[in-house]
Amino acid sequence: EKGGYDHFMLKEIHEQPTAIKDTYRGRMLPDEGLIRMAGVDDNLERIANAKRILIVACGTSWHAGLVAEYIFEELARIPVEVEYASEFRYRNPIISEKDVIIAISQSGETADTMAAIKLAKEKGAFAFGVCNVVGSSISRETNAGAYTHAGPEIGVASTKAFTTQITVLTLMALKLAKHNGTISNTDFRTYLQELELVPGKIEKALEADEHIKYISDIYKDARNCLYLGRGFNFPVALEGALKLKEISYIHAEGYPAAEMKHGPIALIDEEMPVVVIATKKGHYEKVVSNIQEIKSRKGKIIAIVTEGDTEVRELADHVIEVPETIEPLTPLVTTIPLQLLSYHIAVMLGKNVDQPRNLAKSVTVE
Ligand code: F6R
Repeated sequence: EKGGYDHFMLKEIHEQPTAIKDTYRGRMLPDEGLIRMAGVDDNLERIANAKRILIVACGTSWHAGLVAEYIFEELARIPVEVEYASEFRYRNPIISEKDVIIAISQSGETADTMAAIKLAKEKGAFAFGVCNVVGSSISRETNAGAYTHAGPEIGVASTKAFTTQITVLTLMALKLAKHNGTISNTDFRTYLQELELVPGKIEKALEADEHIKYISDIYKDARNCLYLGRGFNFPVALEGALKLKEISYIHAEGYPAAEMKHGPIALIDEEMPVVVIATKKGHYEKVVSNIQEIKSRKGKIIAIVTEGDTEVRELADHVIEVPETIEPLTPLVTTIPLQLLSYHIAVMLGKNVDQPRNLAKSVTVE
């Protein structure tokens, strides 16, 4: 049932090209320059005219929400706030009928996310669900929604749910952008074409597996690890750190690269591996100078770079290449090596990858 893989997590990492295709298939019509999503189409005015979009989620789904924040604001020019469901619900949040709340949840059963949705609905907001489990509580509680078609995710550490959530939210942002006239027809088509190429690019990124295994072996005994990214890849840094913590029990932190000098830089010494997402475009030169700062303090640099990169290669201790795509879609490819890195480290440390200690697949208690 693990399809020849040692663990569900590895199987699910490899399923991402298919899961993403299954998620956009039938919704994305590049030739016609169209996106069809029943849950959005049926409520288009309500959603597109939102004064504000509030995203609530927990854990990895919250990270997908952060990526979506950048994408929605960039494309649809609607203000977005992303909140931990658990914080949102307990702080008397300001919500109006003009707000649209999006709950992101793989399981559709997360108690805090469910409670946040109920609260927002009571205050008159329109609730939209992005769930993976069909018929789940959150999918039933929301006014409308769009499923991720990731298929069952068994490994406790979320992988394909994350990338398919980003896929759904990107389609939704594009759709709203088109409706609101905040994207040109040319750009809209470019996005669709690029999104269609993402599964193949993930396949390519997966080919780095052996190299990532080699790097994992070098750093598996680290006590701490720092993950840095900027812009669209800042949430990817958070997600990379969460994956490492969850399954290998190595302490890891994700930071926006520029925040490093406001504190975390004090941690850097020759013992500290720093994973930096340094793909082309998206503040590339700034990230390069962040890498130089780490290097001058003798930190060990593992950089995720765009294929063919030479500048970072000269500075970093290790580079892992991913294919190039348009900047807002880079999280879909840069996430892949980070998933593999945490997977291999956990396996090498003999940890229970699919069922890490103290964690449950769906958190139905507050
Ligand atoms: C991370 C992980 C958790 C979940 C979180 C939300 O790998 O599995 O952080 O992402 O518990 O779960 P859902 O998406 O089911 O609401």
